[in-house]
Amino acid sequence: MKKIQKISEMQEISDGLRRRGKRIGLVPTMGYLHEAHLSLVRKAKEFSDMVVVSIFVNPTQFGPGEDFERYPRDEAGDSSKLEKEGVDFIFIPEASEMYPPGYQTYVEVEEVSKGLCGDFRPGHFRGVATVVAKLFNIVKPDVAIFGEKDYQQLLVIKKMVEDLNFDIKIIPGVLIRDEDGMAMSSRNTYLSPEERQRALILHRSLLEGKNLFQSGEREASALLKAVREPIRSVGGLTLQYIEIRDAETLEKIENVDKTAVIALAAIVGSVRLIDNVIIGR
Ligand code: PAF
Repeated sequence: MKKIQKISEMQEISDGLRRRGKRIGLVPTMGYLHEAHLSLVRKAKEFSDMVVVSIFVNPTQFGPGEDFERYPRDEAGDSSKLEKEGVDFIFIPEASEMYPPGYQTYVEVEEVSKGLCGDFRPGHFRGVATVVAKLFNIVKPDVAIFGEKDYQQLLVIKKMVEDLNFDIKIIPGVLIRDEDGMAMSSRNTYLSPEERQRALILHRSLLEGKNLFQSGEREASALLKAVREPIRSVGGLTLQYIEIRDAETLEKIENVDKTAVIALAAIVGSVRLIDNVIIGR
């Protein structure tokens, strides 16, 4: 496994691989890797000959007062996990390499970035789309894998790829949970044991919604009520949003007559958590 820090070196390597007919799979990450990231790596291996994992805590997707400074980092731990997975390259640039002085170009995916997390993290998806577009031009992958936990992010990237004609296939990776049901996230490390216990209601109540759907309920307002009530009754969490949206377009829906996502964000202690379930798939 080779570690690359410079954009020009990564581009040369990718050009060489493509000339030799190798399919490149990219897994973009911000590091502090856990099992959910590794599942994306395994998916990348299924669809490509060479896997590149990027590790970059992207400053442009963090708003003022968010956790950019304290975002957990563990380069040595990440390298050994990726080595064990048989990853070929880690692309791990400095911020000054990605955003040199005078940098001024950003990518904005307009409609899909609105609502849900977009309302609570202004500028977040602009930062995500920008860095992912840059990674696509640097790594030149044939396929790139994004987890469904960040469901809105996945759709933002898909729309960007479609609108900007990137010749890259975006492959979703299913949301991976810990044994207790908690959606895996690098940010879970900020939770105290008591906060984590409280946060478990998020997944449990999403399952209430899913079960109600499976028993025949199709009205979005009734499904949302089934999710919201247990969260309210537990208390100690601030629900930022809970919504049901079309799983392909993220448009609002009143009746679930095709695949939909029930998505939520909540604050527990000082930690912002997101989670979702897909219904009708
Ligand atoms: O999901 C993430 O970890 C990040 O948003 C991504 C896609 C690596 C872009 O910085």
